Amino acid sequence: MKESKKVALITGITGQDGSYLSELLLKKDYTVHGIVRRTSNLLRSRIEHLRRDEKLYGRRLFLHYGDLSDSTTLRRIISEVSPTEMYHLAGQSHVGLSFEIPESTCEETGMATLRLLEIVRAQPSPVKFYHASSAEIFGDASASPQTENTPLRPTSPYGCAKAFATQLARVYRQSYGLFVCNGILYNHESPRRGENFVTRKIARGAARIARNLDDELVLGNLESRRDWGRAQDYVQAMWLMLQHQTADDYVVATGETHSVREFVDAAFAVVGLPWEKYVKHDSLFNRPTEPVRLVGCSEKIGKTLGWKPAGNFAQLVREMVEAELAAIDSRQ
Ligand code: NAP
Ligand code: GDD
Repeated sequence: MKESKKVALITGITGQDGSYLSELLLKKDYTVHGIVRRTSNLLRSRIEHLRRDEKLYGRRLFLHYGDLSDSTTLRRIISEVSPTEMYHLAGQSHVGLSFEIPESTCEETGMATLRLLEIVRAQPSPVKFYHASSAEIFGDASASPQTENTPLRPTSPYGCAKAFATQLARVYRQSYGLFVCNGILYNHESPRRGENFVTRKIARGAARIARNLDDELVLGNLESRRDWGRAQDYVQAMWLMLQHQTADDYVVATGETHSVREFVDAAFAVVGLPWEKYVKHDSLFNRPTEPVRLVGCSEKIGKTLGWKPAGNFAQLVREMVEAELAAIDSRQ
């Protein structure tokens, strides 16, 4: 089979975003390489369907062992693959956990991004580089909604590490002329979201209660508000950024916020149960500090790249709860 000219390398290919991005790029006829770390369990559930596809795996989809802490291996993979586009998505992505494991979070999120930028800078052919930045860089936001020019005021170790990496990406673009884009993404969710993020936890909890597998759902702060979109729409934004003639930073958001309580309410409405009867609070899930007023203005990416989200909040909640119900029913 003839190799396509567009070659993408994805760090974090096994994650929520990595899996949707791989599907998108494979549909667009890219050759896709992903970096995976050694785990005790070989099953990589989010990309297993792609790995099992004989038309893809070993032909247009390749996996390479590597870890963000291992610069010699990262350098070798990048030299061998010689990507035209690189999507750097890997890292410890749980904000609450970053208070418990701050050092490894900052190492993986901050220093590893620097490591990759240095390797990319030394490549003989130009590599377009996407960095997975986050709304968490705005933290105690000084303006609302936030734009690409809002000051960085992170409120968590994770947010500090992303702010460091975001600013470095800007420095490498300005100082060395590298094609580096920061996608400043607000929360985006899907049935493939990790189980310890609040939306998936709620969707799973509501479905399990509806099927009599659980009798309560224990959460932290119900009043937190987030700007929640669909992961499938957000990986499209990542791709669009690297197709533009110039590199830049873009906020990707819906511009709408909802509270955790509203998410709970909508999820339990899908299964027709009164949430007040089942949802309990445990301060274990509260964070030492929370960002405030996080809501994004995605006017720039809308006007420059023509991006707009396809789905809305109600559809997202329904899609996530129905996926949980279907998964339970298929096992029974
Ligand atoms: P995710 O589901 O948690 O996936 C993280 C990926 O990083 C996984 O593939 C994981 O591998 C890999 N990884 C973690 N540590 C690694 C290491 N030391 N070496 C190699 N690989 C490592 O995250 P996501 O939701 O897809 O998010 C993708 C990126 O966007 C993350 O950087 C996240 O911080 C950022 N982001 C996400 C959101 C959001 O709402 N989802 C919003 C803004 C920014 P394993 O499968 O082996 O664990
Ligand atoms: N995880 C979790 N578990 N969060 C809870 C719970 C719970 O039981 N109860 C309430 N929450 C609240 C959190 O305190 C937070 O205010 C909100 O729900 C969302 O939490 P998460 O789903 O863990 O996401 P996040 O906003 O902290 O971080 C996500 O979005 C960032 C972009 O804004 C992650 O995807 C980050 O990687 C990403 O950068």
